[in-house]
Amino acid sequence: MEIPVVSKRTDSYSIFIEHDFSGFKELFVPLFPEAKKVCIISDETVYPLYRESVEPLLKDSYEVLSFTVPSGEASKDINVVLSIEKYLKDHNFSRSDVLIGLGGGVVTDITGFAASLYHRGVAHVFIPTTLLAMADASIGGKNGVDFDGLKNIIGSFKMPSLIYMPLNVLESLPEREFYAGFAEIMKAGLLADSKFYMWLVDNMYEICEKDKDTLATMLETAINIKKVIVENDPFEKGDRALLNLGHSIGHALESYFAGSYLHGETVALGCVAAAFISWKLNKISMEDYYEVRDMFVPFNLPISIQIDKSDYEDIYSRLGKDKKNTSGSINLVLLKKIGKAEVVKDISKDLIMASLDELNFTDED
Ligand SMILES: NC(=O)c1ccc[n+]([C@@H]2O[C@H](COP(=O)([O-])OP(=O)(O)OC[C@H]3O[C@@H](n4cnc5c(N)ncnc54)[C@H](O)[C@@H]3O)[C@@H](O)[C@H]2O)c1
Repeated sequence: MEIPVVSKRTDSYSIFIEHDFSGFKELFVPLFPEAKKVCIISDETVYPLYRESVEPLLKDSYEVLSFTVPSGEASKDINVVLSIEKYLKDHNFSRSDVLIGLGGGVVTDITGFAASLYHRGVAHVFIPTTLLAMADASIGGKNGVDFDGLKNIIGSFKMPSLIYMPLNVLESLPEREFYAGFAEIMKAGLLADSKFYMWLVDNMYEICEKDKDTLATMLETAINIKKVIVENDPFEKGDRALLNLGHSIGHALESYFAGSYLHGETVALGCVAAAFISWKLNKISMEDYYEVRDMFVPFNLPISIQIDKSDYEDIYSRLGKDKKNTSGSINLVLLKKIGKAEVVKDISKDLIMASLDELNFTDED
């Protein structure tokens, strides 16, 4: 299944959703006739699993280099990116050579960033291997690293030349990672497409069973939602900010809990908090709020946290540092209704604290 991404303001490229790696070579090679070398950037978990699926496809046409980073968010670090730059330089990587990011969102974010810096920009291709990277992180050209305790604070915009999604890689993905990726898909339905949201609910069983055709349809719709928003606003001057539904409070919780939650899990929590604030501001009904909240549960996503109330200030201060805020006020993406989101400025501290309190419960409560 091919999804073309066309933009007047950035380079155009295509996304392919396929069952396995077999179609990769015939898509990749014609795109890069000038390249002599490719460098596969991957992580220590993914590379051993899929090296043999990719390298033999390229060996006849290119010198294949590889650079492997430790698995996990800690690799989204400027020093990791600099070590990639050094490796490329030491191996005489030229401006016409190509980087391939083979991995989850961590790998795609650093590969795109490294590609945007080397020689002021070399081509890059993604083979995303997590559901989150397929549905979200690989799409849209945002790349970057975390810095000084803050998520994605240094980065660049650069579109890939090709995204190839072999669905068979999801078979090795841990369940928890699969559902964390699903949170971004649920987010896409919530912010832009109520019919898709309902489709997700109706296809819960097939999604949890990882039926390939259902996953392909699900990804196609989620990607199209992001694609349309990004095509209209590639550099986040307007509506692209809506994709941050659940991310502001989510990022604050992700950095507060420092590794206990996966990114997608904190996005689910952030969506619940945003839906709660939307209800309190009379944008959605109480019934809609509880429906949104409870729909994360069958997909094994958290809807509550256990924290000491004295730490609310800490979380609030992390939210204040979120790069999405303009001049000190807290702006959040909220729901106008299920399937439509909007940016709301100057959300009061009391309301944000109330949303943390709403999340702060245990099963015994
Ligand atoms: N650039 C964007 O627009 C954007 C959007 C959303 C998220 N992100 C970023 O994406 C990152 C999260 O991505 P992620 O959830 O993919 O995390 P990840 O890249 O850390 O991957 C999660 C874990 O799964 C392992 N893994 C990956 N694929 C596997 C497979 N097929 N089989 C077995 N194990 C596999 C990885 O080694 C890792 O341990 C965050 O840093 C987030 O900020 C970026």
